[in-house]
Amino acid sequence: MKSYKIALIKGDGIGPEIIDEAVKVLDAVAVHCGFSLEYDELLMGGIAYDITGDPLPQETISGSLNADAVLFGAIGGEKWDNLPREKRPESGLLRFRKELGVYANLRPAVVYDELVNASSLKPEVVRGVDLMVVRELIGGIYFGEPKGRDENKGWNTMVYTRDEIVRIAHQAFKIAMTRNKRVCSIDKANVLDVSQLWRETVEDVAKEYPEVELTHMYVDNAAMQLIRDPKQFDVMLTGNIFGDILSDEASMLSGSIGLLPSASVGAKIGVYEPIHGSAPDIAGQGIANPIATISSASMMLRYALDENDAADRIDAAIKRALNEGYRTQDLAQFDAKEICSTSEMGSIIANYIER
Ligand code: IPM
Ligand code: MG
Repeated sequence: MKSYKIALIKGDGIGPEIIDEAVKVLDAVAVHCGFSLEYDELLMGGIAYDITGDPLPQETISGSLNADAVLFGAIGGEKWDNLPREKRPESGLLRFRKELGVYANLRPAVVYDELVNASSLKPEVVRGVDLMVVRELIGGIYFGEPKGRDENKGWNTMVYTRDEIVRIAHQAFKIAMTRNKRVCSIDKANVLDVSQLWRETVEDVAKEYPEVELTHMYVDNAAMQLIRDPKQFDVMLTGNIFGDILSDEASMLSGSIGLLPSASVGAKIGVYEPIHGSAPDIAGQGIANPIATISSASMMLRYALDENDAADRIDAAIKRALNEGYRTQDLAQFDAKEICSTSEMGSIIANYIER
């Protein structure tokens, strides 16, 4: 029997609750599809700081690199907001991405038919939306030098090298080949030198994918187009900070930030996590929506472990739970037949896999 080693990082806030539900569903699907999963629990974020004094202990890096994939909950919370920057959970997260070399962040935004009314946009605008934001994750203004601050000035630098752009562009074109074969590259080439290099380089890479249609858009226009007519997009390729902003915007098309998964991949390992944060305000109440995390587990099976049948089963079970009217609190007003807790939702989805 095939066996996979999964690094589990539960993190802070609702992280532990939602990861537990993903594990429940993973275990159900593993039995069904004839493989086994071994979990290695690792510390990160505020809880890691509280226990070890470091938001990203060395063990977490080595343990992750040793696994076949990483399933990640969420980190951070007000409790740690006033720590010096390098001790904060967010700094741990950025270091984690860098150490693991996960340069490509894939953030799909899909609208479930069952939930077209949950979006703040009109149903006819969002019905059928299925796009993928491909965000560069370990470069750009998040990491560029020089950076710093003194009493009266703060500065960061947006830097991309040709190599960094080439590798993320390949990811976007490869993903487009499995989808609708359209890439829209998003930049600010009318103002930024770094974006001019970005645009030229993406054009070069595109020559290797003659079947894919490439277009370019300025980021301000892209922000507008995402709301005006999101169905025009298939793959949106962009840098770190623009992708951070646009992926939050895109997530709202689906109505709840509690639904969407993400993957961060590189040459060595992939990290699979919900796109939402640790939501400390609702932690421990059993009301968080575990679907984004369960869906991230499905992405992990598909992209990291090549267990496509298992991933399909999870996706179908999620759809079925929504279709039958099961809703967590966040979606209570949208055609709910039954409101369920975090763990009830996990069990319902796990049960649909077994049947
Ligand atoms: C994200 C988050 C992070 C980011 C923060 C928490 C550092 O917003 O994953 O999108 O900006 O990348
Ligand atoms: Mg973000």
